[in-house]
Amino acid sequence: MKPGVLYRYKDFLPITKKTPLFSLGEGDTPLVRCSQLEKELAVGELYFKLEGCNPTGSFKDRGMVVAVAKALEEGSKALMCASTGNTSASAAAYAAGCGVESIIIIPKGKIALGKMAQAIVYRAKIVAIDGNFDQALKIVLALTEKHPVTLVNSLNPNRIEGQKTAAFEIIDVLGEAPDYLFIPVGNAGNITAYWKGFKEYHQAGKSKVKPKMMGFQAEGAAPIVRGHIVEKPETVASAIRIGNPASWKRAEAARDESGGIIDMVSDDEILAAQKMLATRGGIFGEPASAASLAGLVKLRRQGRDFSRSRIVCIVTGTGLKDTETAVKGAEPFLELPADQATVEKALGFI
Ligand code: F0G
Repeated sequence: MKPGVLYRYKDFLPITKKTPLFSLGEGDTPLVRCSQLEKELAVGELYFKLEGCNPTGSFKDRGMVVAVAKALEEGSKALMCASTGNTSASAAAYAAGCGVESIIIIPKGKIALGKMAQAIVYRAKIVAIDGNFDQALKIVLALTEKHPVTLVNSLNPNRIEGQKTAAFEIIDVLGEAPDYLFIPVGNAGNITAYWKGFKEYHQAGKSKVKPKMMGFQAEGAAPIVRGHIVEKPETVASAIRIGNPASWKRAEAARDESGGIIDMVSDDEILAAQKMLATRGGIFGEPASAASLAGLVKLRRQGRDFSRSRIVCIVTGTGLKDTETAVKGAEPFLELPADQATVEKALGFI
């Protein structure tokens, strides 16, 4: 079978005879079991889904390939999105790969450098605004309404359709849905998509159970947890620095229908989880993607028992996108002359 979400899950996607099928290699990401963290956190089975292995380094590619295929089918010549960095990287890549234009509106100075580099390299038309993601999205919604440009934020239903395939993959690999799915929540499209995917596969008889959806926002950007819009969202996890999520209601539905929760984690908890994931799992995720594990750690600290549970944590984006945050506050390392004896001694071999 050809690689990619469009080929693999054709029967579950809104594809017609006229939809162009193509791929940049998205989907089919690894589901990795981590025995060290399983022991440390006393979890029955603990898996991480490495969405950073997608072509632009985040889960966005799953939804983007469907959104762009449908846009091409409809004859669109340009795509537009607001973004905290990953959606724009993905939109820019797929637009470039398909020979259409991408226009991205981003909050100035709040995008990780790797993501900026992606938008630049793929030649997106970039507008950085003096404002946050929520303001950028408002502008994009107005402009895509008014002009012949396709909206590729997750308010475009084709994005959700593509992203739900990650839930299919989990069931295809495990043979059953997990008991819990831990996932970061920003604009709330992804938790919506996973829940849709789990429900559809359940309905198709591919799983007997559905997971509890465990969503985590950053404390400084936790509108769903607090029950009101956050006007000035702040968090080190810049990908989820969002105060008014577009899929707010649908995220609440996923939580309530599944018997899960949407909670929040502090920046310190996020950074500690990012480190934990790297040093015990060998997995380097960007800060936002560590909110899943941070949530699990928080619930364990509160005494919740997962010793007989099968848990999947979504690592939504690769850590290589945001190396500035990763190396900030890092422990010092040895810097020495190029001399064997000196190096040997400093390493404690002699
Ligand atoms: N993790 C990462 C790495 C993200 O980039 C995002 C969202 C999320 C989690 C949250 O997913 O928005 O579906 O709830 N990034 C968007 C962007 C907002 O513009 O790249 P969500």
